[in-house]
Amino acid sequence: MKVDILTLFPAMFKGPFEESIVGRARQRGLLDVNILNIREYALDKHQQVDDYPYGGGAGMVMKADVLCRAIDAVKTPDAHLVYLSPQGPRLEQPTVVRLAKKPHLILLCGHYEGIDERVMNEVDEELSIGDYVLSGGELAAMVAVDAVTRLIPGALGDERSAQEESFAEGLLEYPHYTRPRTFRDREVPEVLLSGHHENIRRWRKKLSLERTLIKRPDLLLGRHFDQEERQMLEEILFDGEN
Ligand code: ADE
Repeated sequence: MKVDILTLFPAMFKGPFEESIVGRARQRGLLDVNILNIREYALDKHQQVDDYPYGGGAGMVMKADVLCRAIDAVKTPDAHLVYLSPQGPRLEQPTVVRLAKKPHLILLCGHYEGIDERVMNEVDEELSIGDYVLSGGELAAMVAVDAVTRLIPGALGDERSAQEESFAEGLLEYPHYTRPRTFRDREVPEVLLSGHHENIRRWRKKLSLERTLIKRPDLLLGRHFDQEERQMLEEILFDGEN
């Protein structure tokens, strides 16, 4: 997958894209990320990227000609252009799954009061990472790239992990344990030491359901529960035991 990021602050991306899963995906050639400095597409001698808003008011507006020149420089026929902004619908896992299938993403990071509205003609999709206002789209672009990269085949090394993670099945993940067996008088649940794969699977599923019910009940609204899940929910709600 190719990702072009258009930003006024390219240095912000240095560290985050060199570490962990994203860094490794780049090294392995699974992810080709290009960071482009929007300012390089400003042609005047001051390299002006923003200007006062028509009609007056506070703040500056990013100029349409500069932004469109930057976009034109990276656009391909199969590119999907995402504008990160607090006004877009919230980025959630189904959108991450959809974006992960695109061969070429262009992520446009806004700053100041926003961008000249006429640039929106070039935008395929506007996305927000949450209902708060960031200083710019850069952190949001990093979030999007991280979430998408996890879904690129081979990026995690172990293909099961992405499938089993929180939200992949619409539920939160079950609890995890590793050595030692006893830590500060707390034991690892017995079933995990049993080697009985079906019991472990059921235990995990039930804990996933229980956690989701307690921590994020909103995720269960509108969910279709299969027979096994209905029975587990009944046990959780009426037996009070795991
Ligand atoms: N730019 C500023 N705030 C943002 C947000 N919440 N999501 C995406 N882009 C942004």
